[in-house]
Amino acid sequence: MGVARADDPIQTFVTRYCLDCHGSTDPSGDLDLSSFRITEFDHADSKFEPSIWERVLRRLQSRQMPPLDSVRPSKPEYIHLISQCDEKLGAHAGKYPWPGMPPAVRKMNRNEYRRAAHDLLAGVNSWII
Ligand code: HEC
Repeated sequence: MGVARADDPIQTFVTRYCLDCHGSTDPSGDLDLSSFRITEFDHADSKFEPSIWERVLRRLQSRQMPPLDSVRPSKPEYIHLISQCDEKLGAHAGKYPWPGMPPAVRKMNRNEYRRAAHDLLAGVNSWII
């Protein structure tokens, strides 16, 4: 494999568990993960595509990828990777807000957003009652 760097856990993970199917040649689901470097991305780098990593994150969270009949990561590997992706996407969103997000949400990372949404709903509930 050779392209994976030991100090880049996401890349190592992707190389080990995803590139067999999502390499540069005829990738499954038309998703080529070989050229993405989420841990090294420059926030201004237009090659960083949050939407792709959103999709990756979702498939990891739901344990849909790798497919059941493939070599699959251990639970700690999944958890670690998911938190890494989440963090990177959160940092990116904070710096380069996605269009359409309410202003209050822009500076928050995902966990802060979840908490804020939760607080907000709790507030609405007590207000209704
Ligand atoms: C054994 C082959 C195989 C492996 C290994 C594999 N995938 Fe997939 N993947 C597929 C196939 C086939 C599809 C298209 C069908 C589908 O969407 O479920 C797909 C689709 C996807 C999609 C949806 C693409 C889209 O446009 O929404 C994502 C995201 C994804 N894979 C991520 C991953 C990640 C991340 C890994 C590694 C952790 C991985 N896959 C490992 C075969 C594989």
